[in-house]
Amino acid sequence: MSELRTRDVVEADLPAILAIRARSFGPLASGGDAWWQRVSAETLDGRMIAVVDESDTVLGAGRIRPYEQAWGGRHLRMGGVAGVYVEPSARGRGVATTLTRALITRMGELGDVVSCLFPTTPSLYRRSGYEIGGVQTRTTYAGHLLRELGTSRRGTDREAATTGLRPARPDDAQRLQDVAREAGTRHGVSGPMLQSVATLRGTLERDELNAYVVDGGHVLYDLSGDALTVEELVATTPEAAATLWGVVGSGTAAVPTVHTYLDPRDPVALVVGGLPSTEVQQVPWMGRVIDFAAAFGARGFAPQVSVEVDLVVSDPEAASNTGRWALTVGGGRGTARRIDEAVVRADGVGVPGDGIASTRHDDGSVLRVEARGLSALWCGWSVSRLRQAGLASGGTLDGDAALDAAFACQPYITEYF
Ligand SMILES: CC(C)(COP(=O)(O)OP(=O)(O)OC[C@H]1O[C@@H](n2cnc3c(N)ncnc32)[C@H](O)[C@@H]1OP(=O)(O)O)[C@@H](O)C(=O)NCCC(=O)NCCS
Repeated sequence: MSELRTRDVVEADLPAILAIRARSFGPLASGGDAWWQRVSAETLDGRMIAVVDESDTVLGAGRIRPYEQAWGGRHLRMGGVAGVYVEPSARGRGVATTLTRALITRMGELGDVVSCLFPTTPSLYRRSGYEIGGVQTRTTYAGHLLRELGTSRRGTDREAATTGLRPARPDDAQRLQDVAREAGTRHGVSGPMLQSVATLRGTLERDELNAYVVDGGHVLYDLSGDALTVEELVATTPEAAATLWGVVGSGTAAVPTVHTYLDPRDPVALVVGGLPSTEVQQVPWMGRVIDFAAAFGARGFAPQVSVEVDLVVSDPEAASNTGRWALTVGGGRGTARRIDEAVVRADGVGVPGDGIASTRHDDGSVLRVEARGLSALWCGWSVSRLRQAGLASGGTLDGDAALDAAFACQPYITEYF
């Protein structure tokens, strides 16, 4: 087998990578050229890595998109891994595994503290410490139900319901992001990504979506398919929500079906006067912790939760995560303090000389996880479930309850990348 090496992608590599993409997913759809140029420009500067053979032929590539993602209502730097393709004749010999490891190292260097991706096969990413974090949910409503939300509100207070309603302009991009950030914080959400101001401005400039603002909210929706698709609807007041759903509903005389990509617990579910369609689409995504101390210190926690608990992590691919950690949570903030450089074997047993076996704490009373277990815990899987999946060992019931309280969340993503 030829020797594999990784290096940054340069502009001259792009045709070869696009050819591998075509051999993996077929040719770009119409309009795909502009998308390819855009994501390439976004990632060429150190966010796109190639695996090459000894003759520097590109065998595979992948990119890290620069995103922000909410965890406990606070926004963290997240590397969105995408565009992973391997030349078909080079598959099955570790090209993608080599690439994934290089992407994880690079995210650590860039300061992305967590990572997410939409996998075609989970096993590839599991071996590098990713686990299922949640799903992107598409919920479908009959349009008239949403239209009624708008008309019922107008009947009571027409003026209040429509204050400030107008089409969004490119210079509204910052405002859209501010409203989305504030809503994520207020609801203490985990998972959703915050679109960058530049991305929002580009979307508005290119007129890609129907976009409306109202005092206290905005909506972005698409009319290009058979249905109307709400890509984002953020409202900070009931009036703003009613007005925006009214705008969406007004389009449904022509297009009676409305798909929505929303928080599965979006309050619209509490006010809409009918049930969504039983056909719900869910696309699973995987998450990974890249820099545990930084991520834990940056994410939000439920303000009333007060926790002190230790955790032992073994993560050879993101070595800075490895060690025994003292976790403290209080007042909505957390601290992860490394106690030692403990290393555990795959079977969860301490390795003599590597720290854990020699520490005074090595009585099995501290929960031990490897990278996948850490990622699952981060994404709100309870310790009892991790144990059942073989992703955690040791610990005590009290410790489990403390970890569950700290990491409790129901993460979701509304985007796809
Ligand atoms: C998926 C893909 C990237 C794997 O590349 P690769 O270099 O062959 O992967 P590796 O040799 O490193 O394999 C690593 C592991 O991934 C998993 N895997 C790889 N190809 C797989 C497939 N077709 N189906 C299921 N699992 C697969 C296996 O667990 C494999 O480990 P194993 O060989 O010990 O069983 C490659 O097949 C590809 O480019 N496919 C088309 C595009 C695509 O799906 N990209 C991924 C987007 S998330």
